[in-house]
Amino acid sequence: MKSYNITTLDDFIIRRQKDYPEAKGEFSRLLHHIGTAAKMVGSKIRKAGLADILGRAGNINVQGEDQQKLDVYADEVFTSALLSSGECCGVASEENQNIITFTHEFAVNGNYIVCMDPLDGSSNIDVNVSVGTIFSIYRRISGRGAEVSDDDFLQKGTEQVAAGYIIYGSSTMMVYTTGNGVNGFTLDPSLGEFCLSHPDLKLPQKGKLYSVNEGNYIKFPEGVKKYIKYCQERDESTNRPYTSRYIGSLVSDFHRNLLKGGIYMYPSSEIYPDGKLRLVYECNPMAFIAENAGGMASEGTKRILDIKPGSLHQKTPYFVGSTEMVSLIEEFIKNNP
Ligand code: AHG
Ligand code: MN
Ligand code: MN
Repeated sequence: MKSYNITTLDDFIIRRQKDYPEAKGEFSRLLHHIGTAAKMVGSKIRKAGLADILGRAGNINVQGEDQQKLDVYADEVFTSALLSSGECCGVASEENQNIITFTHEFAVNGNYIVCMDPLDGSSNIDVNVSVGTIFSIYRRISGRGAEVSDDDFLQKGTEQVAAGYIIYGSSTMMVYTTGNGVNGFTLDPSLGEFCLSHPDLKLPQKGKLYSVNEGNYIKFPEGVKKYIKYCQERDESTNRPYTSRYIGSLVSDFHRNLLKGGIYMYPSSEIYPDGKLRLVYECNPMAFIAENAGGMASEGTKRILDIKPGSLHQKTPYFVGSTEMVSLIEEFIKNNP
């Protein structure tokens, strides 16, 4: 008999839960709800171009409203899914100035809080380029039943219980870690299920790709400029220059580098003295995934996950990817203050 060995995301979550006899299934429910929200957002993104055409043809919705922005839609869908899981007592989102506390009876006792970038790379939607969602899960530090506060969300990245992203690309994928390996699931649209497609992902120790917005080059710190020049000169192992690849969606750039090996950089510059990426919503989750896949994430001289966030929307320079490449740029930065 031919074997059809499919592991769905839900199968996988339940299997992993069995490794923790004390687990009550709370965390599994939370992940399941994130998966459902991802399917909803993915489906909407697939129709984005079409909605645009229909909109232009004068098909305004019944209330006469303009097309809702997709990042707002994604924010609402993920927030609702987290609330209805009953396991999450609050959310911090890149889309909102302040945290959202869930005071509903069924959620107030939830043990987890979630930080998210509901739609990363959203400016790429118009040109049909991949975008993503990034999430990060922490255990609350306030007591169960109490209202959550900013302190619950300003924990160091090392305290993450899980982190992941969804990439809405030529296929939709969810990649996540609970601190015990990184696994990737591809959405089978005919089944409507995420299926395990990339078990135990490992970031190559060294890669051939560097990803940075080189338009900002002349404003970069000296060490970063020298590292970029080094990449343009020669990779000793191939005797060719490194390859430059930049999409402008962190999720997509990171995903490619995770599979192929490489470094993603968003350094400080005159325009962005602290870089552009947000520690809580973007850098910490991707750093947790990178480290769990054997890679590295740095703000130039320090490990990202060791930074204690001072505020929700704090930015940081960011270097993430293959360990040998991130270590080398740290060296360039150290030697060129
Ligand atoms: P977002 O769409 O969530 O605001 O994030 C965009 C971010 C990130 O995804 C991307 O890598 C970076 O901005 C691109 O910035 P530049 O256009 O300055 O290169
Ligand atoms: Mn983003
Ligand atoms: Mn965003």
